[in-house]
Amino acid sequence: MQHLNVGMIGGGFMGKAHALAYAAMPMFFWPAPAIPVRHTIADVTADLAGDAAARFGFAHSVADWRRVIDDPDIHIVDIVTPNDSHPEIAIAAARAGKHVICEKPLARTAAEARAMLEAVEAAGITHMVAFNYRHTPAVALARQFIEKGRIGTILNFRGTYLQDWSADPNGPLSWRFQKKIAGSGAVGDIATHVLDMARYLVGEIAAVNAVTRTYVTERPVQNSGVDKLGAAQRLTGVPKAAVDVDDEVMTLLRFKDGAVGSLEATRNAYGRNNYLTFEIHGTGGSIVFNYERRDELQVMFADDPADRRGFRTIYTGPAHPFGEGLWPIPALGIGYGETKIIECHLFLQAIVQGRQPSPNFRDGWLTSLVADALLRSAESGGWIDIVP
Ligand SMILES: NC(=O)c1ccc[n+]([C@@H]2O[C@H](COP(=O)([O-])OP(=O)(O)OC[C@H]3O[C@@H](n4cnc5c(N)ncnc54)[C@H](O)[C@@H]3O)[C@@H](O)[C@H]2O)c1
Repeated sequence: MQHLNVGMIGGGFMGKAHALAYAAMPMFFWPAPAIPVRHTIADVTADLAGDAAARFGFAHSVADWRRVIDDPDIHIVDIVTPNDSHPEIAIAAARAGKHVICEKPLARTAAEARAMLEAVEAAGITHMVAFNYRHTPAVALARQFIEKGRIGTILNFRGTYLQDWSADPNGPLSWRFQKKIAGSGAVGDIATHVLDMARYLVGEIAAVNAVTRTYVTERPVQNSGVDKLGAAQRLTGVPKAAVDVDDEVMTLLRFKDGAVGSLEATRNAYGRNNYLTFEIHGTGGSIVFNYERRDELQVMFADDPADRRGFRTIYTGPAHPFGEGLWPIPALGIGYGETKIIECHLFLQAIVQGRQPSPNFRDGWLTSLVADALLRSAESGGWIDIVP
């Protein structure tokens, strides 16, 4: 069986998630398309990289990501750094002929994402953007129902992504609140996940009309330490600096094929943890999903008998998408890790078969175009058309 050496750039939250997937993917999906080998991990200092290598099972560690790109033994470059470094690393990796998986959002702006797409297409390598939530079996099952016409013509899509980890004003000014690093706030960080699901399930978005708000306008400066996503970390008695990204976005959506919809995303909604939801209504039925209950998909079909009308709950299992590789009994529990394991499987399958997986950098760019439009719409106060 083919072995593919992975060079991972970044040893934080997503480094952990992707390393878990490389280790576990062949245990779930066997025979695996190829065996991913955790070869080298890079972080910004030798200590951070060495620590990440020990923790995540990489054979080597380096303090400069360029050494990963220059290493002829590495086949896959996995970019799990904050958003500002995605373009430079991805373009260099593509030029060196490596296959590339990059965390979302693909970049800070659609222009940066477009340059990344052009580089990977010119290099002819396999590329993927890590919108992993669409790989949740219940979400893939929703798409199957839609593809089979079970909910008819889609009329509307209502999406939310509500979290509360940044609600505390004493949460530190991590990279996620700095425009020069993150590009935007809730828009790029979490609304893009919903946009990816909306594109996956309903189709391309033609226009948006958004408002954004920043509720916490300054935060304590963090001099060192990793980003623990706010709520876990309160800094008091230290200087504060300005937040220059959005805390919340709400938007109307118009889809190319005629459906309409809405999206709300905030990281300041006390009591909501990873409340990533959608509700889709069609001429033939409705579908509801809530990531906090991700083993479940609720469906109702217009042709259900009159005495049984109402939502039914399907627990995903072996009969559903990716079920052949996951757990043998429905409702044993799909977790965040499983979505990353599925993502890894799809990526390696595409590499071995010499094609592009879904979602790839084109999807990443198209989603970035919508994210840019949300920010422009919020500034101008009106509808913005999305023109690829
Ligand atoms: N798919 C998802 O559900 C999901 C969830 C969280 C984060 N993300 C995305 O993943 C990316 C990383 O986020 P995270 O939460 O892992 O961040 P993090 O802050 O936890 O970790 C980032 C790591 O990258 C390292 N790093 C920074 N610049 C570097 C460089 N130039 N070279 C090498 N290492 C560098 C940091 O030292 C840190 O160890 C972001 O793009 C983020 O939007 C995606």
